[in-house]
Amino acid sequence: MLSEQTKAIIKSTVPVLEVHGTAITTTFYRNLFEAHPELLNIFNHANQAKGRQQAALANTVYGAALHIDNLEAILPAVVQIANKHVSLGVKAEHYPIVGEFLLKAIKEVLGDAATDDIINAWAEAYGVIAAAFIGVENDMYEKMASQENGWSFFKGFTVARKVKESENITSFYLKPSDGANVPAYKPGQYISVRLAIPGEKYLFNRQYSLSQAVKPDEFRISVKRDADNDPNGRVSIYLHDEINVGDAIEVSAPAGEFVLDTTKQTPVAFVSGGVGITPMMSMFETVATMTPERPTMFLHAARNETLHAFDEAIQSYAASMPNASYKTLYSDQPQGYITRDVLKEMVDVTGDVYVCGPVPFMESMIQELRVLGMTDEQIHFEFFGPAVAIQTI
Ligand SMILES: Cc1cc2nc3c(=O)[nH]c(=O)nc-3n(C[C@H](O)[C@H](O)[C@H](O)COP(=O)(O)OP(=O)(O)OC[C@H]3O[C@@H](n4cnc5c(N)ncnc54)[C@H](O)[C@@H]3O)c2cc1C
Ligand code: HEM
Repeated sequence: MLSEQTKAIIKSTVPVLEVHGTAITTTFYRNLFEAHPELLNIFNHANQAKGRQQAALANTVYGAALHIDNLEAILPAVVQIANKHVSLGVKAEHYPIVGEFLLKAIKEVLGDAATDDIINAWAEAYGVIAAAFIGVENDMYEKMASQENGWSFFKGFTVARKVKESENITSFYLKPSDGANVPAYKPGQYISVRLAIPGEKYLFNRQYSLSQAVKPDEFRISVKRDADNDPNGRVSIYLHDEINVGDAIEVSAPAGEFVLDTTKQTPVAFVSGGVGITPMMSMFETVATMTPERPTMFLHAARNETLHAFDEAIQSYAASMPNASYKTLYSDQPQGYITRDVLKEMVDVTGDVYVCGPVPFMESMIQELRVLGMTDEQIHFEFFGPAVAIQTI
């Protein structure tokens, strides 16, 4: 355990480090990748370029340091991050490397203000935090590997079918290349896909939610072609254009905490925007097949009909469930947005709600659901990128 003196130093220096947060994290990643370019096989280069990942790591270390007396308090955050880490194959031996470069970055940015006492205190604190992550992640790897049909790190899969679901979303049905079955994942979980793109020096990793209820012998992911931006999305376009039936793909074991509680019979609502529909498909299909009487509501926002995936499948499941309702709103049409009034009419606020979509969509939905009286325990959400703080007014 850390000495009282070390804890005092940590607590007094967190605010200073936060002020220099961007400089420290930018320096950290630059030096880390210069010395260990092999780590570029793990990190998402687009998230780096957009700056969305940079702040996450250091801010979490600072946040954890503040709770160093009681790391239990931040366990939910550790578990969420650990899920992402294990889906990417982060290993115990990576932690000392990250620690070394984080401390060096603090020293480089703060200069003489970073005394030996300060650096030593942070080295100790980082050790405690890293040990907490490593412990949680080792448990996860062991569970993944010992589960029936499970594995840890990556495994070879083959594309069995490729199905167009809408103008810009295509599903890939993936089967283990060794002929084995797949493990029973929790509806809402995701996998990481790892690809070697010809001409690219480093591997590309991206997460994709499993978009159907558990099937014994296959996964399904449904990928939006990210082609409306500059630059266009590397992996999604490669998958759409170059990956076909029979092609090999590396896949991590399912991970993630945005999952349906299948033991409940209480009302459940799914609210999705765009490709955020994918984890909802897995959850909705699971309710439809396991607990079809459960009061269930599916509310989806798409830009227009051509970009609307899975409409027929949802309609057909909803028709087979006695207490299900389903509505889609097209934002290209007048009154096409999910407003507070729509949520009030459709969502049973005594139950659970699952929200997934672009960040502004989630912020707006979560804000309105809170106004309608739902608590944070009832509202579950997932980011399709590094987690960011939800901004509500
Ligand atoms: C838990 C989770 C589940 C997910 N589930 C799904 C799913 O079910 N279906 C799905 O389609 N996606 C899902 N995603 C998102 C997915 O992982 C990818 O992020 C997405 O496919 C885009 O990847 P890409 O390689 O095509 O785009 P990238 O190359 O990663 O680019 C993404 C965006 O960043 C921008 N960008 C890239 N480089 C730069 C730069 N240098 N400067 C500025 N902007 C830049 C691009 O313009 C683009 O808009 C999920 C993500 C997470 C974390
Ligand atoms: C105690 C140390 C660490 C902390 C506090 C930490 C924290 C974080 C956080 C907050 C995220 C974002 C989670 C999200 O997507 O919502 C993240 C993602 C990630 N971390 Fe860590 N991390 C640590 C150590 C490491 C190590 C040792 C590695 C391995 C080199 C690593 C590799 C990654 C990668 C590859 C991602 C995903 C990045 C992306 O998608 O762009 N982390 N980490």
